[in-house]
Amino acid sequence: MNTPLLIDGKAAASSVLQQVREDVTSLYKQGIHPALAVILVGSDPASQVYVRNKILRAEEVGIRSLEHRLPSDTDTDQLLQLIASLNADDSVHGVLLQLPLPAHIDELRALQAISPDKDVDGFHSENVGGLSQGRAVLAPCTPSGCLYLLKQACGDLRGKHAVVIGRSNIVGKPMAALLLQADCTVTVLHSRSKDPQALCRQADIVIAAVGRPRMIDARWLKPGAVVIDVGINRIDDDGRSRLVGDVDFDSALPHVAAITPVPGGVGPMTIAFLMKNTVTAAHNQSQAQRSLSEAVCPSIS
Ligand code: GUN
Repeated sequence: MNTPLLIDGKAAASSVLQQVREDVTSLYKQGIHPALAVILVGSDPASQVYVRNKILRAEEVGIRSLEHRLPSDTDTDQLLQLIASLNADDSVHGVLLQLPLPAHIDELRALQAISPDKDVDGFHSENVGGLSQGRAVLAPCTPSGCLYLLKQACGDLRGKHAVVIGRSNIVGKPMAALLLQADCTVTVLHSRSKDPQALCRQADIVIAAVGRPRMIDARWLKPGAVVIDVGINRIDDDGRSRLVGDVDFDSALPHVAAITPVPGGVGPMTIAFLMKNTVTAAHNQSQAQRSLSEAVCPSIS
């Protein structure tokens, strides 16, 4: 078999971000300054790192960022009030509520409160439904990043058998919807699937999003499969802490045509697509404002 391709998420993310920078510049010229509000409730250490990275990246590409850190004893109503004020603020184009939330907060109510046109995570039911109908909506960032990498690695995805391992609302389900839209044949495996290894071995494309360190090894893979590893798991390796994926990279490598490393694979794509969604949201909102003002104040010919 040919040498497996290491799919470089950092390089792919940097080309997406370059396009975002150009789009930001063109919005600036129209007097639009894209802005992203990021809400973090509580002090989950991983979430703090993710939020910091999102804010840094926004600033790098010229997107204004607003950080709202709320104490862990914030209640659902207080969070809903903040979301309502960001929805009403025309200078804010994207609202991101970092998950997980403290257990006492009603997550579904909070996500549904974000205006669908500012929902840069694509978690509102309006966007979730639109995605499954094949409409052009704001789609979740991690699956969008995975699809971009897959198109780069495989070219045409039509008719390929894709197996998604994991059925979370953030990755597994929207990933399956995006793959279907790309004309793949899609199988979703989960904790109740019967003989998942045998089903996975039939896949041309494997998307691993289970959150279990190195669960998928060579026995799960058809020779020549393309593997996208969404997992980011911190493990203790002989007293040394390090990050590994859901795929056992060393075991999988000799069997695959292409694979994402962890770190440096899917991770950078999530933030790149968050920036892309923010620019799309700013563009859509400015178009909507324009058609509204044209309707209210038609030009006199
Ligand atoms: N927590 C883990 N992944 C994500 C994500 O993509 N968006 C948000 N808002 N929270 C997350």
